[in-house]
Amino acid sequence: MKKALAILAGITLSLNIQSILADDCQLEITGNDSMQFNVTEMSVPNTCKEVTVTLTHIGNLPKAAMGHNWVLTKTDDMQAVANDGIGAGLDNHYIKADDPRVLAFTEVIGGGEVAAVTFSLDGLSTDGKYSFICSFPGHSALMKGVFNVTM
Ligand code: CO
Repeated sequence: MKKALAILAGITLSLNIQSILADDCQLEITGNDSMQFNVTEMSVPNTCKEVTVTLTHIGNLPKAAMGHNWVLTKTDDMQAVANDGIGAGLDNHYIKADDPRVLAFTEVIGGGEVAAVTFSLDGLSTDGKYSFICSFPGHSALMKGVFNVTM
């Protein structure tokens, strides 16, 4: 009986560790009606096979007025990606078609909506400087942050 309990305890422990490791690769962020993300920095360990970022728009305004998305770029490319996204329009989520500088992005959402993107860290380095923005016209001035890939 004691042995069985010890085995059960071991199973529970390993499940807990796995869930903790899995959570490191699942990031959450919110945007609001005041053109703000709730965080200015996000980090993932480079051991993640895949990363999922889930964006929730906690405001009420429609996407045409206060749309938000989550776009990952090298920090050096951030401004150009935002500028080129303006011309792409809402239907294209303010992302220029086939833009190789865009490392990952979600669709544009309005109040009460949720969007997620899952991507690989292949090609991203712990030495790299990455940023996330909302590419809705004018939003990246406020809606931006640092994205770290950690050892
Ligand atoms: Co926005």
